[in-house]
This record gives sequence, C-alpha cells and structure tokens, in this order.
Amino acid sequence: MIERTFTIIKPDSVENRNTGSIIAHLEGEGFTILGGRMTRLTKQQAEGFYAVHQERPFYNDLVAYMTSGPVWVMTLERDNAVKHLRHVMGATNPKDAEEGTIRRQYGESIERNAIHGSDSPENAAIEQAFFFPAADLL
Ligand code: RTP
Ligand code: MG
Repeated sequence: MIERTFTIIKPDSVENRNTGSIIAHLEGEGFTILGGRMTRLTKQQAEGFYAVHQERPFYNDLVAYMTSGPVWVMTLERDNAVKHLRHVMGATNPKDAEEGTIRRQYGESIERNAIHGSDSPENAAIEQAFFFPAADLL
C-alpha cells in the first residue's frame, strides 16, 4: 500500500556533508520526495518533536544535538514507506545496525545517528504536519 513517512536528515549528516548521499540512498530505495527543506530546529520545536522521550535520561542531550545545526526535513512516499524507511535506516545505535543501512554507513554514535524516521503511520502524519502544510507537498 502506498503510504507516506517523514524523515529528518540529522545535524551530524549535514555537518559531515552526507546529505546528498543519504538522499540518493533513499531515492535508490524507491522513495519519492514529496517535500523537503533545510531548517534549523528551535529548542521548542526539538522538545515538542521528541516529547515522547521527555522522561528519558538522554532527552536534554538529544534536544541540544538536534538544535546544534541545520537539518533536512522531508516527506517521502513509497509502498510500505514507514516500515521500509525504518529498515533502511537500521538500528538506533549504528554499531548494532546491519551492514548497508544508513545508520551503519553514516552514523557516529547512538545519539549522532544520521537520520530520523517515523515509527508508525500515525506519527508520520503528525510529524509531517509539524513541518509541511498540505499545500507544500507535491
Ligand atoms: P528516531 O526517533 O530519531 O528515528 O530514532 P529511533 O526511533 O531509532 O530511536 P528513539 O528511541 O526514538 O530515540 C530518539 C533519538 O534519541 C537519541 N538517543 N540517544 N544516548 C542515548 O542513549 C540515546 N538513545 C537515543 C538518538 O538520536 C535517537 O535516534
Ligand atoms: Mg523514535
């Protein structure tokens, strides 16, 4: 079933000039880019985006990292997009991620792990709406 998911190319990827390679990887996996732009998250945006983790010990570090530099936010479309994106991203910790996954290839650490992907179609819709008015998706 064709569905949408939402991704963030995280600050470490932009800093390390991996944006183009990661987008090429995603297109190679059959994702169509419906919308995308570079932005720098405010503290408030990062806190809101990762609010589910606010009780976790890594929350403050995560917010500091996600606001440390520019990111690319993108809405993607593909068959089974949510599950497939999580598959091509790999495990949260790049050390545990399978060979050939984006996090294995480009991630630096469990925190600086290159890319975010929505974990359910419901969250994909919420996260996409956070950054893109429907009219901006082509
Ligand atoms: P994401 O939401 O960014 O796609 O990552 P995920 O589902 O694979 O992992 P999640 O548990 O949702 O964690 C969100 C992000 O928090 C950072 N993190 N740091 N220091 C730590 O132990 C730790 N654990 C997670 C990572 O940047 C992770 O992607
Ligand atoms: Mg997550």
